[in-house]
Amino acid sequence: MLKIGIINGPNLNMLGKRDQKAYGSLTLKEINCIIRSFAEKESVELIMMQTNFEGEIIESIQQFSSQVDGLIINPAAYTHYSYAIADALRDCPIPVIEVHLSNIFSREDFRGKSVTASACIGQIAGFGFQSYILAIHALQDFLKKEVVK
Ligand code: DQA
Repeated sequence: MLKIGIINGPNLNMLGKRDQKAYGSLTLKEINCIIRSFAEKESVELIMMQTNFEGEIIESIQQFSSQVDGLIINPAAYTHYSYAIADALRDCPIPVIEVHLSNIFSREDFRGKSVTASACIGQIAGFGFQSYILAIHALQDFLKKEVVK
């Protein structure tokens, strides 16, 4: 069974309350429920965590790298400036996909830059909670190809 870790960064615990125009009205709990039921149908096991702390994101990347087959990360605002998270992702031996609920390229200028995406196999942004589901699909596909290689 494919195992995927999902890491959500700062302020994503406030979904449902924060900037609904950018992020929609669903809470993180509701989004996680939708993602979980999709994963169950696909026989994918998920381990999910959210934290507001940079160091905890780094520790989770390090821990997940020996526990799961692939990783999905929404580093939230850290996307735009955390070289420490980018380094942890570069050291991570499993494939990682960066996701964003909003289209970071159509918002304020500072959001159009990701220092973490280049350490990932790809980035998916702008599809709300579907960004996570698309990322699960992409990891399933990527890992299948890796096995065939
Ligand atoms: C976000 C986009 C970031 O710019 C922002 O700081 C977030 C959420 C997204 O999912 O769209 O907190 O990562």
